[in-house]
Amino acid sequence: MNRTWWKEGIVYQIYPRSYKDSNGDGVGDLNGIISQLDYIKSLGVDIIWLCPVYQSPNDDNGYDISDYYNIMDEFGTMDDFDRLLSEMKQRGLRLVMDLVANHTSDEHQWFLESREKDSPKRDYYIWRDGVDGAAPNNWQSIFSGSAWKYDEIASQYYLHLFTKKQPDLNWENPAVRQGIYDVMKFWLDKGIDGFRMDVISVISKKNYEDSPYPALNDTISKVYANGPKIHEYLQEMHQEVMSKYDMMTVGEGPGISLETGLSYVDEARKELNMVFHFDHMFIDHGAGGKFDVVPYDFVHFKQVFAKWDELLRGRGWGSIFLGNHDFPRIVSRFGNDGDYWSQAAKLLATMLLSLRGTSYIYQGDEIGMTNVAFDSIEDYDDVETHNSYQEEVVEGGRDLEDFMKAVHIQARDNARTPMHWSNEENAGFTDGNPWLKLNPNYPKINVAAQQEDDASVLNYYRKMVRFRKAHLTLVYGDFEMLAPDHQQLFAYRRWDEGGEYVIAHNFSEQESTLALDNIATYEKAIGNYPDHQIKDGQVQLRPWESIIYQKK
Ligand code: GLC
Ligand code: CA
Repeated sequence: MNRTWWKEGIVYQIYPRSYKDSNGDGVGDLNGIISQLDYIKSLGVDIIWLCPVYQSPNDDNGYDISDYYNIMDEFGTMDDFDRLLSEMKQRGLRLVMDLVANHTSDEHQWFLESREKDSPKRDYYIWRDGVDGAAPNNWQSIFSGSAWKYDEIASQYYLHLFTKKQPDLNWENPAVRQGIYDVMKFWLDKGIDGFRMDVISVISKKNYEDSPYPALNDTISKVYANGPKIHEYLQEMHQEVMSKYDMMTVGEGPGISLETGLSYVDEARKELNMVFHFDHMFIDHGAGGKFDVVPYDFVHFKQVFAKWDELLRGRGWGSIFLGNHDFPRIVSRFGNDGDYWSQAAKLLATMLLSLRGTSYIYQGDEIGMTNVAFDSIEDYDDVETHNSYQEEVVEGGRDLEDFMKAVHIQARDNARTPMHWSNEENAGFTDGNPWLKLNPNYPKINVAAQQEDDASVLNYYRKMVRFRKAHLTLVYGDFEMLAPDHQQLFAYRRWDEGGEYVIAHNFSEQESTLALDNIATYEKAIGNYPDHQIKDGQVQLRPWESIIYQKK
C-alpha cells in the first residue's frame, strides 16, 4: 500500500460539548479546545476529528444542523474557528470535520422553504402522502417511533431516519448534492483536511415499500443502508470534491458489512478512504437493539478484526476504533473498570495502535475514563436514551430498573460526560454548571494526576503512539491471527520488510499462555507490565497483560 499521511496519522476525536469550557457556561467550546492543543500535541497524535460545531438547535447535539456555514453560538464564532485551525497548523495538527449530509435540522432554511408546496426547494426533502390516514410505510426511526412525521404546513409526511428534527435530504435531487459539495468546499478552502461522513451509508433510499423485517437492526442494514445509488453519489462527490484536495475521508455507516465494505473503500473505485463499520460495536446488541444487552462472544470479536483486515488487504484501508461518542467507554465495555482498570486501559491502547488501519482515539480514553451510572433518567441528556425510555418503559411497560441497567451499560452519555482535566471541582472542565453531570470518579481518573506518573494510562498511550510511529510495520505490515480459537487471548503477527512483531493481549483475569515458536529469536518491545514472564519456553500473560514482541 502506498504511504499517505492519513494512513500513518493517529486520530484524536473531540466531542466539543464535553471537552473544555472556556467561559463558564458549562458547555465545552472552541476556545476550550485551543487551550488544550499543547496537551493534544503531547499525545503524539496527528489529526483531530471534531464532532459537529455548526449552528444547531441541538436536538441531537450538533448532528441536526441548521446552518452549515456558521459555528454554533455555544461553541464560539467563526473567528474562534479560524484561530483553532491556525493554532493547529502551527503545531502540525490536521483537522477533520464531521459532515452530516443525510439530514439537516428541521430549522435549516432549506427545510423551512421545503414545507411550502410550490417552493423550488420542495424536492430537497422526502415528502409523501399518507396511506389511509397513517404514515406512508412502516419504516421505524433509528431513534424510536415512526420514521415519518406529518407536517401541517406541508400537508404531507416527511422522512426522518433519526429524530423528528432531523429530516432526511433527498439525494436524488442534484441541487441537494451540489449544496452539500458546496459546504464541503467551503470548509476545505478554509484549510481543513477532510471529513468524517455521518451515516453516509443511508443517503440513497430504496423504494419506499414496507420493511419485511421485524427487528429494526435488520431494517437498517437491509433496507436503509447501501441504497441503489450510494456509489453513484460517492463517485460524483469524489469527482466534484475529493479529487481536488489532499484530504481524508472516513464514512460512518450502519449496514456497512464485510459484503459491502470494499465497495466503499476499494482504492480503484475512487469513493472513500475508510469506513467505520459496526461489526464489533453491535456485538452485544440483542434483537431489541442496544438496550437489549446480550453477552458477546470473544472469538467473534477477534474475527471481526481478522476478517476486515483480510477483506481490505492490498485493496483499501481500514479504521481501527473501539468506541466514540455513540458508544460506551472502551475500558468498561471491552476491558475491565475494576481491579484491572489500568492494565485493561493500556491493553486496549496497545490493540488500537498495533492493528493495520488508521487508529482512532476518543477523548478521555487516553486516561481510561469509564462508564457512568446515573440513578435517574433525568440525569441523562441523550435523545436516543430518552426516546427509548419513552418507547420501552413508558409505553412498552419495561421494568424501569431493568432499563436503567441497560442504560448504564450502553447509553451514549457514558462517553459524553465531561473530560476530566484535574481533581478540582467539575474536574476542571468548567467553572459553571456542566451541561451533563460528571462521572464521580474524576478525583481518581484525571489528566493532572496522570501527567507526572510514568506508569499512568496517559503516559502509556504516549509511549504506544510513539512506538507505532517509529515502527511503521504496525501501520502497513501484514496481519495474521494466532490462536484464533483462544477464549482469552487476542494474538497476532505483523510483518513486512521492516520487521516482524508478535502481539498478544490477555482479555481476562486468568493467566494465559501464548505458544510462540523460537521464542529466543524475539524480544519484548513494549507492554503494560514492567517485565514479562516466560515459563517452559512459553509466554505467560498475567491478567489483562498486553505485550509486543519484536523479532531480533
Ligand atoms: C451518527 C452520529 C450520531 C448521530 C447520528 C445521526 O451515528 O455519530 O451521534 O446521532 O449519526 O446524525
Ligand atoms: Ca463554553
